[in-house]
Amino acid sequence: MLIDGFGRRINYIRVSVTERCNFRCQYCMPEKPFFWVPKENLLTFEELFLFLKVGIDEGVDKIRITGGEPLLRADLDKFIRMINDYKDGIDIAITTNAYLLKGIANKLKDAGLKRLNISLDSLKPEIAQQIAQKDVLKNVLEGIEEALKVGLKVKINSVPLKGINSNEIIELLEYCKDKKMQIRFIEYMENIHANKNIKGLYGKEIVDEIRKKYHLKKIGREGNSPAFLYELEDGYRFGIIDPHKHDFCESCNRIRLTAEGNIIPCLYFDEAMSIAQAVKKGDVEAASEVLREVLKNKPEKNRWDENPPEKELSNRAFYQTGG
Ligand code: 5AD
Ligand code: SF4
Repeated sequence: MLIDGFGRRINYIRVSVTERCNFRCQYCMPEKPFFWVPKENLLTFEELFLFLKVGIDEGVDKIRITGGEPLLRADLDKFIRMINDYKDGIDIAITTNAYLLKGIANKLKDAGLKRLNISLDSLKPEIAQQIAQKDVLKNVLEGIEEALKVGLKVKINSVPLKGINSNEIIELLEYCKDKKMQIRFIEYMENIHANKNIKGLYGKEIVDEIRKKYHLKKIGREGNSPAFLYELEDGYRFGIIDPHKHDFCESCNRIRLTAEGNIIPCLYFDEAMSIAQAVKKGDVEAASEVLREVLKNKPEKNRWDENPPEKELSNRAFYQTGG
């Protein structure tokens, strides 16, 4: 079993398969990064999987594939199948912008994918374009439709930004409610890579906006999820992810693995240790040792505060860790 230095049990690995992305979201990578990890430094699926096996053997039962944009990596279904074939009952999910989903959702499901989280910040083509810096909406909506049609469970992630999409909170909620998909509104997490001029909304502001139209009941956190759930009178539930409070850090059950083999214990912090050498040599013992070292040092909580001092902005690049 994997236990960290604060006694938290880790049963969830988020694995990024590429840092590259076909979008340039304002809050993530508004400009193409100056430096991409050279392709040859990316771990192969076999190498990533060797590390996942160490985790699965120690009780990890939830794996999320992220990026960058994971669907940019060729043959992702093969990676999903490797995990699925190794052990029954692993909850395999993916976080994607869905731009490339149409036409492959069925293949991913057949390989063993259970669930998708899809980013959708606007239902207006020009606003979606302003945020992602590309005309993306049509493909994304078609991707969502197809995922639902083939029977995958879909949740939507949405980051409200002041003066950009903050007036679409109700529309986004209702779009998801109609399709019986949970939407989670995420507070914008400040980081040095994002566009300096954007401002997010706090969870409370988002909830207040929804309260103008709906009666809400507070439900609470679902298991170890960072999302705090609310329920409308008709039973529809949506979530708020508010890292500016730290109350979900307490039950944090996850670690992250980047595409080049760094294990990241907390989304906020830059500290990481590499398992690249170990998995390239096929050395399971060494990989397992690095993992234990990382767990020992997993921080107690993130440092997103209500008023972050400029110099303390997180260096973390979301395109490396997949959120
Ligand atoms: N703040 C909040 N959410 C972010 N995401 C990416 N960058 C940020 C940020 N700075 C979210 C996206 C996507 C997921 C991968 O992470 O909305 O849904
Ligand atoms: Fe790409 Fe996701 Fe980052 Fe947007 S938030 S640029 S879709 S990795």
